[in-house]
Amino acid sequence: MLRAEGVEVVYGGRVVGLHSVTLELPPAGAVALLGANGAGKTTLLRALSGLLTFHDAEVRKGQVSLEGESLLDVAPEQVVGRGVVVVLEGRRVFEPLTVEENLRAAMLGGQGRAGRSGSMDTDRLDWVYGLLPPLRHLRGRRAGFLSGGEQQMLAIGRAMMTRPSYLLLDEPTLGLAPTVAGPLMEFVAGLREQGTALLVVEQNAGTALDVADHGYILESGRVVMDKPSDALRRDPDVMEFYLGVGEGGQEGSLREVKRYRRRKRWYS
Ligand SMILES: Nc1ncnc2c1ncn2[C@@H]1O[C@H](COP(=O)(O)OP(=O)(O)OP(=O)(O)O)[C@@H](O)[C@H]1O
Ligand SMILES: [Mg+2]
Repeated sequence: MLRAEGVEVVYGGRVVGLHSVTLELPPAGAVALLGANGAGKTTLLRALSGLLTFHDAEVRKGQVSLEGESLLDVAPEQVVGRGVVVVLEGRRVFEPLTVEENLRAAMLGGQGRAGRSGSMDTDRLDWVYGLLPPLRHLRGRRAGFLSGGEQQMLAIGRAMMTRPSYLLLDEPTLGLAPTVAGPLMEFVAGLREQGTALLVVEQNAGTALDVADHGYILESGRVVMDKPSDALRRDPDVMEFYLGVGEGGQEGSLREVKRYRRRKRWYS
């Protein structure tokens, strides 16, 4: 279990990014984390993966734990070594390298090369190609020439090279056409069958709830709703503000939904 309990995050010693947030990601589970711009979704991923330190931020109250042990004083690369890996927003890949070089490079940092043979890397590579078969076809292509969806798949493939137990994804479908986002998320859902737990941050609630068993909604740094995905899908506020379904059951335009989101407050 990866767990945040009563977590308060502060940036630069004064700006509060999260207020007493509690979230649980069970082993091999799948959880959606939803919320508007600035709600604190990325901040929570940073808190769970030890990355706050790179943003002049810290957990000032509460606890972050993995299998019951605190992660608060664990260095980020050691958090990766313990099986918690985050794919940051924006598909960070090494553009001049090929797809396969990107995947192999994922094994150089963090867990280190010591004690790892080249054949083990190749086994791992085959395993990742099995999980994300389009990458096998693209293996010789330069990452900088891939489409947005292909780059996102590569970023996920790089994370999977470390065989994480808990994979945290920050807005994996951002900027992708629905025809690309849908199949990508099907591959993501498949990672769970390997025993990898998923925490999926999305503004596109429908996509995330399709993958997840449970969802949390963040608003201004607080969890305002925490329910099974089915219940969230049926909730009228979630339907209206996160699924873009209006009163008459019509799909709202994205612009309308965004305008609503900015106005909407989940608590007063
Ligand atoms: N590096 C930073 N320094 C100071 N404040 C920050 C920093 N990063 C985030 N914040 C603040 O923390 C709050 C939560 O931001 P966060 O980026 O976690 O939101 P988000 O839900 O991921 O938003 P988005 O949907 O835009 O990605 C915001 O008020 C933001 O201004
Ligand atoms: Mg964010």
